[in-house]
Amino acid sequence: MSKQFLITTAIDYANGSPHIGHAYEKILTDVIARHKRLSGVSVQFITGLDEHGQKVQMSAEKQGVEPIEICDVLAVEFQSLCKRLNVSNNDYIRTTETRHKKVVQSVLQQLFDQGQIYKADYNGFYSIRQEQFVTEKERENGAWSEIYGEVIEVTESNYFFKLSQYQDWLIDFIKSNESVIYPRFRSADVLNFLKEPLNDLCISRPKERLSWGIELPFDSGFVTYVWFDALVNYITASGYGSETFKENWPADYHVIGKDILSPPHAVYWPIMLKALGLEMPKHFLVHGWWLSSGSKMSKSDGHVVNPLDLIDTYGPDAFRYFVIREMNVGQDSEFSLDLFQSRYNSDLANDLGNLVSRLLNMGQRFADGTIPKSSIKEAEELTVLAHWSELKDRIFDLYENFQFHKALELTFAFIAELNRYTELRAPWKLAKSEFEEDKQRLATTLAYMSEGLRLSAVILSPVMPDIAAKVLKLLDAEPINAYEGQLEWGDSLAGGSFGEKMILFPKNEA
Ligand code: MSP
Repeated sequence: MSKQFLITTAIDYANGSPHIGHAYEKILTDVIARHKRLSGVSVQFITGLDEHGQKVQMSAEKQGVEPIEICDVLAVEFQSLCKRLNVSNNDYIRTTETRHKKVVQSVLQQLFDQGQIYKADYNGFYSIRQEQFVTEKERENGAWSEIYGEVIEVTESNYFFKLSQYQDWLIDFIKSNESVIYPRFRSADVLNFLKEPLNDLCISRPKERLSWGIELPFDSGFVTYVWFDALVNYITASGYGSETFKENWPADYHVIGKDILSPPHAVYWPIMLKALGLEMPKHFLVHGWWLSSGSKMSKSDGHVVNPLDLIDTYGPDAFRYFVIREMNVGQDSEFSLDLFQSRYNSDLANDLGNLVSRLLNMGQRFADGTIPKSSIKEAEELTVLAHWSELKDRIFDLYENFQFHKALELTFAFIAELNRYTELRAPWKLAKSEFEEDKQRLATTLAYMSEGLRLSAVILSPVMPDIAAKVLKLLDAEPINAYEGQLEWGDSLAGGSFGEKMILFPKNEA
């Protein structure tokens, strides 16, 4: 079997409920996965949950329950979010699963046997919030930056992974593979980080301090550092150690937020893979943050939008549309309910929703519910055709280059054009005319509106799969499984039946 297109999201921390940042990353990845599948590519899409570590252990202690109980509840929450959002992941990996523990332990054992992991005494500072050791470099004017939370002094023995010996190799790898990090300007952050000498990575935590983790295979007094454990999920879920691994690895895209590019994904992960003799991921797709009044939305500061609330009110596709239309991949974006509602009302309810309900309405009134065939081509039709052929040529490139916000902007400009065309043709007037030519114009208008809508549904389907399927059904068209043969303007709908009148995006529900 040939290699699959492997795309992953970060795995979410099991220390709080999902919010818009988690939802966005999954939707973005899903749009790419769906676009690839429609392009005829075989896709393996993986997401999951990151369950070990101090934060989960501490929450469990606070609540007087076992850590796994917290994780089980959150796993259900995160997985139902995926379902509600219509995310088409092929696998969902939890780091507490046996398959994952086995891979983490085998990887650790291999590195230990290769002499890449050694034990040493450490005396220094440790940030509980970040679950990492910090050095004097991170202290400003004697104080630790807020992001580190409580910092304690520790003296302990630990195991270290020899990162530092790979520093030159990594710099060279990033410099000579310009397209490995998207957007490219993020490579500069990584290269900046690599200007300082790399310290070896402490990959263990003594059990007295942290017991909620994967035990080191060569020393039962320790568990694995949560980032080392979490990164390995990508190969576990790709079938590491089995035949399927060859079909999946390397990852084509690791989709992650900008906060976890450097050092975990762009430094630790490539070095871990290199040390294991595995191939490098082809790309990291690094998205920005959803902000609320300029701050990152996160659980700790209470600026959280619960995506499920919006989905319940507006439906999954409206939410998917909003985040993909609003965010320029790689940049930050501000979330506000006003913005959400205004996009919902103007783009979805007014432009797309109206076009559909007008068409269905007129289809029943003026064409006895049967989609007519177009029979004339005048200036009005030529304008629509020219607009479509321009869009068709650009849309694929925009999708391929992650310019989804632009792709949607152009698609909705086309939908607006279809509405303009309808106004111009005014079928309600044509229906009153006795002239044969006007009858042909009427039939043609309904046929053009239908075909334009069908094509819009096809190109919207990676972003709004449910809505696209509904629209196609209302036009008596087959569900779409591939773009091939579906993006040409034609009259395949002629003779089919218009569906019953319906409102795709009800207004003022909130
Ligand atoms: N568990 C780690 C990832 C391990 S991957 C081997 C983690 N988890 S997280 O729950 O904090 O974040 C998961 C993903 O959500 C990250 O890619 C992160 O960047 C993204 N987001 C979290 N908050 C975000 C926003 N406010 N906006 C957009 N995405 C952000 O990091």
